[in-house]
Amino acid sequence: MVGTVWLVALFGIFSAAYSANYKCQGVARYGLTFYGMWSNMTHPNAFPFPSGHFSPLVGASHESAYSLWMSGMKASQGVKNVAEMGDSTVLEQEIMQRITSTKTAWKQIKSGNMAINGTESVMNIEVEVTKDFPYVSLVTMLVPSPDWFTGIMKVSLCDASSGTWMDSWTIDDLQPWDAGTDNGTTFMAANNPTMPPGYISIITTTAPPTDFMNLSSSAIPTLGKMMLVRQNKPTMNQCSGMYYYTVKFEAKWSQATHPKGFPSSAHFSPLVIATHSYKYKMWSDMTRASPGVEEVAEIGAEGTLYNEVDKMKKSGFVSNVYKTGTISTPGGYTSTKIMVQNMYSMVSLITMIAPSPDWFVGVDSYDLCGTNGWKEKVTMDLLPWDAGTENGQTYKLNNMATDPVDVIMRITPNSNSDIGAHANVTFATVTFTREEMTTTQATTTASAPGLSAGLFAILSVSLLAIMGVLY
Ligand SMILES: *[C@@H]1O[C@H](CO)[C@@H](O)[C@H](O)[C@H]1NC(C)=O
Ligand SMILES: *[C@@H]1O[C@H](CO)[C@@H](O)[C@H](O)[C@H]1NC(C)=O
Ligand SMILES: *[C@@H]1O[C@H](CO)[C@@H](O)[C@H](O)[C@H]1NC(C)=O
Ligand SMILES: *[C@@H]1O[C@H](CO)[C@@H](O)[C@H](O)[C@H]1NC(C)=O
Ligand SMILES: *[C@@H]1O[C@H](CO)[C@@H](O)[C@H](O)[C@H]1NC(C)=O
Repeated sequence: MVGTVWLVALFGIFSAAYSANYKCQGVARYGLTFYGMWSNMTHPNAFPFPSGHFSPLVGASHESAYSLWMSGMKASQGVKNVAEMGDSTVLEQEIMQRITSTKTAWKQIKSGNMAINGTESVMNIEVEVTKDFPYVSLVTMLVPSPDWFTGIMKVSLCDASSGTWMDSWTIDDLQPWDAGTDNGTTFMAANNPTMPPGYISIITTTAPPTDFMNLSSSAIPTLGKMMLVRQNKPTMNQCSGMYYYTVKFEAKWSQATHPKGFPSSAHFSPLVIATHSYKYKMWSDMTRASPGVEEVAEIGAEGTLYNEVDKMKKSGFVSNVYKTGTISTPGGYTSTKIMVQNMYSMVSLITMIAPSPDWFVGVDSYDLCGTNGWKEKVTMDLLPWDAGTENGQTYKLNNMATDPVDVIMRITPNSNSDIGAHANVTFATVTFTREEMTTTQATTTASAPGLSAGLFAILSVSLLAIMGVLY
């Protein structure tokens, strides 16, 4: 009986682990190549000879809430103009609105201003996705045509099962779509708006009536291929064993270093420090703050972040999390011993510049494993960041929330804030010093991949729980 209950419980834990859905961290850059494969050789009687071509590819990286286009949806004015005329002016405005105002898109993607002939390849089109905007959508008109286009919709470049960005992504089969805005049936048909507009639908050899019915094949051969290849793949150092480092944080911020508005109650909130693998990020440039990071940056409270990081231990992305007390400035400091091991060679930390709206200093995923093994000693100057969650220009708490929320960004010397002119002057330094290895520390060897380490941790916890029940 007890055994059955535990089997069921274990099964529950395993299925939860296997259906894991992780966000990819940070920013990933890809190079997009488009290969046109549309000619009267590949598509006899379904190619407007000799002038068939593609309009410049246009699209965006975006979040799930934004559908640039989708089967069964009505085309936006921008997509309509691309599909009918190959004109992306309005679509680019729509995307810009998404980027700057509703903040549901991240970057526009465009292959340039030149039309792409039916069999041409266009390379090195820049694509940037982030933790918050992992999806890519693109459109290009089949020219000439009434309102026919091809493209991709809501392709995620994040492998959610492992929480890592894909090295590459390919689509071999690009099919034609009808934007539902013009009911012409041949490539050369005169403009004939569909009133009221219909829905975006795929074109097949049987419906709706188009020149693609002239093909002798039962399926429409692909119109092209697209390939996305990651450009900023991190180089992975490999260090083995377990080491302790002392993290020394020294406050430098003072009336003398940052005169404008220096608050009488200046201090740094308790540090949260994590040791982790490359799959985890506590915070990073150009990505949205987690609720825990937001709380640290806005009010200097470390509890939510500490719990957030602690939970990530279960997924095997984080090894340990530490916190310290408040640090006075100038002259205050704190020293903490942290442990790194095998793949858990990175360290991140954060502390609030207090008081302030949402300003902080920290370290994002510094790798203590170098090309020549575990580093001995590193010192870093910490410069100010804005968490993107609260408005305000002066060293004061309690401002309006930034709505919609922004991403984390460096505070620059051009910033219209108290920090402004001195944004490039160090607020604090942090030093990581490797401790001598003791014999008991030297026993850890094999490096386990993230998920199995996580499962192992879960299993150990479960076994402990079983033992707790039985004994
Ligand atoms: C392509 O079009 C040209 C011009 O109409 C024609 O001469 C040629 O036979 C066509 N090729 C195929 C494979 O249909
Ligand atoms: C498809 O067939 C129709 C009817 O035979 C013809 O009018 C049209 O020109 C054909 N389209 C192409 C692209 O060959
Ligand atoms: C299309 O582009 C390819 C590659 O640039 C070129 O070889 C080909 O001649 C072009 N075809 C036409 C019809 O312009
Ligand atoms: C296209 O739509 C127009 C306006 O609704 C209509 O007059 C025309 O008959 C339609 N043509 C076809 C081929 O469906
Ligand atoms: C400030 O620092 C940033 C980032 O390190 C750098 O790009 C910039 O040139 C610096 N500006 C000044 C005025 O020193």
